[in-house]
Formats: sequence, structure tokens, C-alpha cells
Amino acid sequence: MASALPLGEPAPLDGLLPPTAAVGAEERAFGVYVHVPFCRVRCGYCDFNTYTASELRGARQVDYADHAIGEVRMSRRVLEASGVAERPAETVFFGGGTPTLLPAGDLVRMLAAVRAEFGLAATAEVTTEANPDSVDAAYLAELAQGGFTRVSFGMQSAVPHVLAALDRTHDPARVPHVVGWARDAGLDVSLDLIYGTPGESLDDWRRSVEAAIAERPDHLSAYALIVEDGTKLARQIRRGALAQPSDDLQADMYELADELLGAAGYAWYEVSNWATSSEHRSRHNLGYWRGDDWWGVGPGAHSHVGGVRWWNAKHPSAYADRVTAGHSPAVGREVLDAPTRETERVLLATRIRDGLDVASLTAGGRRAVAALIADDLVDARTALAGGLTLTRRGRLLADAVVRRLLED
Ligand SMILES: C[S@@+](CC[C@H](N)C(=O)[O-])C[C@H]1O[C@@H](n2cnc3c(N)ncnc32)[C@H](O)[C@@H]1O
Ligand code: SF4
Repeated sequence: MASALPLGEPAPLDGLLPPTAAVGAEERAFGVYVHVPFCRVRCGYCDFNTYTASELRGARQVDYADHAIGEVRMSRRVLEASGVAERPAETVFFGGGTPTLLPAGDLVRMLAAVRAEFGLAATAEVTTEANPDSVDAAYLAELAQGGFTRVSFGMQSAVPHVLAALDRTHDPARVPHVVGWARDAGLDVSLDLIYGTPGESLDDWRRSVEAAIAERPDHLSAYALIVEDGTKLARQIRRGALAQPSDDLQADMYELADELLGAAGYAWYEVSNWATSSEHRSRHNLGYWRGDDWWGVGPGAHSHVGGVRWWNAKHPSAYADRVTAGHSPAVGREVLDAPTRETERVLLATRIRDGLDVASLTAGGRRAVAALIADDLVDARTALAGGLTLTRRGRLLADAVVRRLLED
């Protein structure tokens, strides 16, 4: 959830969607994202829409679950009044910020509201993100009892000087404990890692990947550190206090991670994501990448239903004011035209293993596939069978591959 809101047309106060949103809805999966916009401290690299206690301008963490539940109830009414087919939620994802700064009971109550309004599919995937220092065994057990199935821990690194450069507050020795408690509670586990932090060597990165693998998570995400404008990290780099991450080193780190993960039984299924089996892929994120429908609850959250995308008021106090007044918290929206939807489909599906049907491309796109195979960016065998799978080199150059697929 990046912090800047896009431009677009104003969204109506009643939140009603244009008729096109309903077309074909019964064919699409439905998911719910709940944004929890609170963090104890802001990490220097992060520009997510999140607030520390001193930045809340009167909004109160204790009221948050009630406001979010207000939006969940409103969302059901809006979808119904807009003629969008009712579907149970296949996935629910609590992200942030730090959802686990709220009491477990608040997360369970918000999930119960989703269940009451939409129903949860029998096999629903219900995830929360968590910082390793914000949960204990009892907390995780309460989540599991309340219907959560999965937890994604922000491990980031196992190396103290890397964690310090990222401003992370947790002790890396805590990660094995939180993973063990999650397992005891019956939750699936994912770990997030970041690579390319200033001062991080290839050996540091190897230590982090090996430490993550040693915990045997079901799923692992590894993100190249992005230096976001306006962050403390960007300022530190500008004034020379920290070094700019090197593209070459980040490429070496990606290759090393993919090698180590592959050897340990983790297969990539999206450029930055690996899982022990197809059942352990993040179904919620796959929904985003496949252009399914999702309702994003909370400040700054984005939603997408049938080619209509909208976003909520960004600050928690503006969000709370709108929900309390009985208005939709959406402030802007855009109705995507057919060429934009096609570009987004190719952009997102290319990054998923076997996610793009070659036959669905334009003639120019299909010609580009042959050239991409010759350049060792696309796997020849899968392409011959009709799918498109990036090679490791192709994953490193995924943006360039997409540009070539869209050239006509
Ligand atoms: C909302 S955070 C995860 C939950 C929790 N707040 C935490 O940090 O542990 C989502 C993930 O985004 C990734 N992330 C955030 N900012 C990033 C950046 N500038 N570059 C790369 N990854 C980033 C981190 O790996 C983080 O775990
Ligand atoms: S804890 Fe997570 S959401 Fe909060 S500032 Fe750090 S990376 Fe961003």
C-alpha cells in the first residue's frame, strides 16, 4: 500500500459503482484487504500509509476496528445496490502498517464482520502481517481460534547491522520463537526478506536467506529494497550517510536467493515470491495479480471490482470522519478502459509463473515471445505449451520483458 494516492475522478459519497463493475462478477474471485495504519516506529525505508502515535491527529487506535467494521457493512450494501453478484470471500488479508499492534480480539472482530456480511469460503485463506516483536504465543493462538489461517512475519534480515540500517526494532533471535508459536497455533507461515540494504554484503544476504530457510516457512517473499522518495533512507543516501543500493549487487542477491531457495524445495511462482507447494502460494496476492475483485477496507486502501478502481481517504482521522458520518470513505476512483486493462493484465500476469497465455497476446506480443526466448528471458518449453514463464534472467529484467510484450 504505497502512500501516494493516484489522481482520478471524485468518488460519490454513497460509494455506488458504475454498472460496468457488475459485468461478469460471478466469474471472478472476491477477496477483502483490511489496512491497519499503525506502527510503533516508522522504519527509515518505508513509505506505506502508516502512522505512529504522534501522527494520528486525534484518530484513536482503540476505535479503529469499529470504523473498519462500519466500512465492511457499507461495502456489502454498496455491492448489492450496484448489482454486483454476491460471493463469499475466498481470501482476507490484514496488512499495514502493523495489524498486530491491535489486540488480537480486534482483528478477530473485523474478520467476523467480513464473515457476517459476505461469508467466508470453506477453504478461505485468512492472513495477517505481523512484526516479530508484536506477537506472542497467546496472541497467535487467539487469531487461529478466530479463523486466521496464515501469518506473514516481517523478518527482513537475520543480520543485526542490516536490521539497524533498516531501523528495524526486533531482535532476530525472536524469529524462531514467533514461527514456532504460529506453528503450534496451526497457522501457515510466510517470511518477508529485503535485500540490497546499504552495507549489506552478499554473505550477509546468504546468512539471512539461510536463516529464513532454517525456519521452514511455507512461503517466502524477497523484495529488493526500493529507496522511496521522502523517506529517511532517501535523505540518508542523499547526504552520503548511507550508500545507494547497487543494481548489480541486488541482481546477484536475487540469483543467490533463487538458488538457495530452489535447492531447499521452494519454487518461485511470482518474481518475488516462493512457496513449498502450489497450495502454499498466497491466494490473496494471486487475486491482485490476476485482476480479480477485492474490497480494500481502511485509510488509503485501494479496491478493484470489474475494472473500477477506487481509493479511500488517506489519513486515519479523515477516514474515521467519513465512516462515522455514514459516507463512503472513497475519495477518488477511475474506470479503466479496455486498453489500460489489457496493459495491466500483461504487466501483472507476466510476473507469475505460467501466468500469461501466449495465445492471448497481440500478434506483436507473440512475435516478441520468440525473441525473448532467443534472449534467454522466457522459458522455451513452457512457451511451446502455450504459457509464459520467465527464466531467472527474465525475472531480473521483468519490466523490460513486459515492455517488449506490449510493443506492437
Ligand atoms: C507492511 S510491511 C509488513 C508488515 C510489517 N509492518 C513489517 O514491516 O514487518 C510489508 C512488507 O513490505 C516490504 N517493504 C516495505 N517497504 C519496502 C521498500 N521500500 N522496499 C522493499 N520492500 C519494502 C517489507 O518487506 C515488508 O515486510
Ligand atoms: S513496521 Fe512495516 S509498515 Fe511499519 S514502518 Fe516498518 S516496514 Fe513500514
